Amino acid sequence: MSTGLAPRPYRLDVHPPDTTGEGLADDVRRGLAAPPYVLPPKHFYDEHGSDLFERITRLPEYYQSRTELAILRAIAPGLVARRGVGEIVELGSGASRKTAALLDAMREDGRPGRYIPFDVCPEAILAAAGRLTGAYPGLDVHGVAGDFDHHLGGVPDPAAPGSRLVAFLGGTIGNLEPADRTPFLRRVARLLGDDDLLLVGTDLAGDPERIRAAYDDAEGVTAEFNLNVLRVINRELGAGFDLDAFDHVAVYDPGPPWIEMRLRSRRDQIVRIPAIGLEVPFARGQEIRTEISCKFTRASVAEMYEAAGLRLVEWHEDPAGWFAVSVAARA
Ligand code: SAH
Ligand code: TRP
Repeated sequence: MSTGLAPRPYRLDVHPPDTTGEGLADDVRRGLAAPPYVLPPKHFYDEHGSDLFERITRLPEYYQSRTELAILRAIAPGLVARRGVGEIVELGSGASRKTAALLDAMREDGRPGRYIPFDVCPEAILAAAGRLTGAYPGLDVHGVAGDFDHHLGGVPDPAAPGSRLVAFLGGTIGNLEPADRTPFLRRVARLLGDDDLLLVGTDLAGDPERIRAAYDDAEGVTAEFNLNVLRVINRELGAGFDLDAFDHVAVYDPGPPWIEMRLRSRRDQIVRIPAIGLEVPFARGQEIRTEISCKFTRASVAEMYEAAGLRLVEWHEDPAGWFAVSVAARA
């Protein structure tokens, strides 16, 4: 069936992980060689994991997505028009759902614009690119599948008329180790020219029980998502993790403050990972830390930008003060 306007083709560049030593095998070898066991969160997001995360964003307990979308809807038209934004680079773009607020604003301001989704999950980019080229005629989509810890150099140079906005939504910046944040933001800052902006979504410190529940929903979707990293390791490295032998645990630590996601062994067991010749012993109750999700304040966000040679130029939070979207520029 023809709809008249054929969707524009899009482009996808893929940076394969395992060739340069930063892949899953290395992370598992490093993280499970000895306790305390730790795995980096990027390995949740195979195609199934990305679908599970999409379900998380619609859970009643996961207030973050709908709160951030409401903020973006409110501020995008003004921001995009004032700055003449013509190009959006989105890091950890996932399903690119909230991006619609920015793309709508660009279209209403008279620019079809360019969109560069960057994510470790190529399937998520492909699905988003297909949908967005259909929904936004004239939008130039150039996806980059890669690891933002290693492949930011693969982001194409600015090409669209207007300024560039680099978006990092969903509180994903809180999933970085605090020590990695400044070097990461310095590399992100290199994607920005003098007139360009960085837009970051951060979950805010607050009621521990409300926040914890967002990572431990009643339906058990978050538990499935957390366990998915073991499914990925089984498939990719031939490991023998029994998913029924681990419990999902979410703990709010008021110190940093952050949420810690863990997988707790239900029994004494030894898990073999043949592809890397590793045998991992677990005592009953022993845990793997699979993610941190840092919670911020306006002051800690301003400080984070400053440390990376950026400055906070706008701060927007919802009326309840649960989530914030901030805008930064090069200092
Ligand atoms: N921006 C979306 C998705 C957030 S979930 C939202 O706000 O709903 C985090 C996203 O970052 C996932 O899509 C995941 O695949 C991606 N991601 C996580 N670690 C990454 C890494 N190291 N490099 C690139 N993308 C990464
Ligand atoms: N960026 C999201 C966050 O920190 C990622 C996330 C949400 C997540 N729920 C999760 C990661 C559960 C692991 C497990 O809010």
